[in-house]
Amino acid sequence: MLVVDDDRAVRTALSVNLRKAQYDVALASASAEALQLLRESSYDVLLTDVNMPGGSGLDLLAEVRTHWPDTRVVVMTGFGSVKDAVGAMKAGAADYIIKPVEREELLLLLDRALRTRALQRELAQLRHEVTEKYGFANMIGISAPMRAVYEQVEAVADSNALVLINGETGTGKELIAHAIHYRSRRAQGPMVAVNCGALPESLLESELFGHERGSFTGATRQHQGKFEQADGGTLFLDEVGEIPASVQVRLLRVLEGGTFTRVGGETPVKVDVRVICATNRDLRKEVQAGTFRADLYYRLHVFHIKLPPLRERRDDIPLLVSHFSKKFSERHLRKEPTISAAAMRSLQAHSWPGNIRELEHFMERTVLLAAGGEITTAQLPEVEPPARPAGTSVSIEDIGPGGLPSALDQVERQLIIEALTEAGGVQAQAARKLGISRSNLNYRIGRLNIRLQDITFG
Ligand SMILES: Nc1ncnc2c1ncn2[C@@H]1O[C@H](COP(=O)(O)OP(=O)(O)OP(=O)(O)O)[C@@H](O)[C@H]1O
Ligand SMILES: [Mg+2]
Repeated sequence: MLVVDDDRAVRTALSVNLRKAQYDVALASASAEALQLLRESSYDVLLTDVNMPGGSGLDLLAEVRTHWPDTRVVVMTGFGSVKDAVGAMKAGAADYIIKPVEREELLLLLDRALRTRALQRELAQLRHEVTEKYGFANMIGISAPMRAVYEQVEAVADSNALVLINGETGTGKELIAHAIHYRSRRAQGPMVAVNCGALPESLLESELFGHERGSFTGATRQHQGKFEQADGGTLFLDEVGEIPASVQVRLLRVLEGGTFTRVGGETPVKVDVRVICATNRDLRKEVQAGTFRADLYYRLHVFHIKLPPLRERRDDIPLLVSHFSKKFSERHLRKEPTISAAAMRSLQAHSWPGNIRELEHFMERTVLLAAGGEITTAQLPEVEPPARPAGTSVSIEDIGPGGLPSALDQVERQLIIEALTEAGGVQAQAARKLGISRSNLNYRIGRLNIRLQDITFG
């Protein structure tokens, strides 16, 4: 801590008392000297007199607030200069103390100032961690589809545009939503998330828009909704496809006008909120099915980010495997396992219906099981074969008049269709998946009379 007072006797008394209380104290007799010391090293607390020749403590306070905002300033004022104390507090002092300084009071006050300082540091650290967590640093993937996603995030983050994120479960929708928030000008503001699929209709409405006291049984006081909580920041509407019709109308109105009323209220509430939505549903289909409003659909589709499923960016699998392998080895205090080429191939071949989340959980288990050794194919029992379309597995009941040969044909036919579907209709790729040559595949397609119409492209 740095003590500034032009009165030598005061400096000496303070330093003796503070050193006795284990504080590390530096002394200065004037503002200029204090500023020099501040430039040389950093101080948690500055304790300063107000009236000093050659520069007042209040001017020193102003300097410190601008150049060393992390240093807490405590001001000492003479009895009868309460005005100075008030001025100091207004100018950002952490606290003030009246002279002559009482030892006990001083120690108590410094303890408080230091504790606040520690909390500030912790907050800054947490902020940093959150930014790290949701920054690009932790987003793994350099495949073309992921690079396209990063470009879209870059393009839209620092704007107020509504963003819709689409993708299967576990593809990183929430991660991307946070990345957008933390790369926007609203990063210091709140990031409020609502899972729209988790609440029944009536609760969702008041969760989003809040309610007035007495608006329904149990509404004993006014309640602030998520839109209000997110004021100045970002509201993340997760599973937006689950929003029931009545709430869809209200949502559309807010998105269009920026104002809304709390449930049971009439006063319009205005907020400054950037909205990011995510869904794993195909909203266009929902519109066709009549479960999602077309006008809301168009409103949400201003900027659309589609996250590719993991099986469409298998090149990223080795990167993800090593990322998670490192992460979980550190977390669980295990030596990082090595992985055989064959095991890596089998991980790359898996269809990962749960996408990155599935891979992440798989790697956590594997790191624990491998115990620092090598991951081999033998250790991959949990990797299930790609999910089969319904009806692929056959039982003896399925053996029809054609007997075994025809039943086998049926299985073969379905496997080929599945491979073609996954390969997006590219025969060479489908053949590779099936472990046969392209001409062999072609022959089988002809023999089984498989037509392109049999394939549904996701
Ligand atoms: N590109 C990535 N790099 C590293 N980890 C990722 C990546 N994408 C997702 N993850 C991780 O995978 C997990 C699932 O991601 P997230 O929760 O964002 O998925 P989601 O699309 O919101 O899934 P759901 O639809 O089930 O809610 C998280 O632990 C996340 O940190
Ligand atoms: Mg999610």
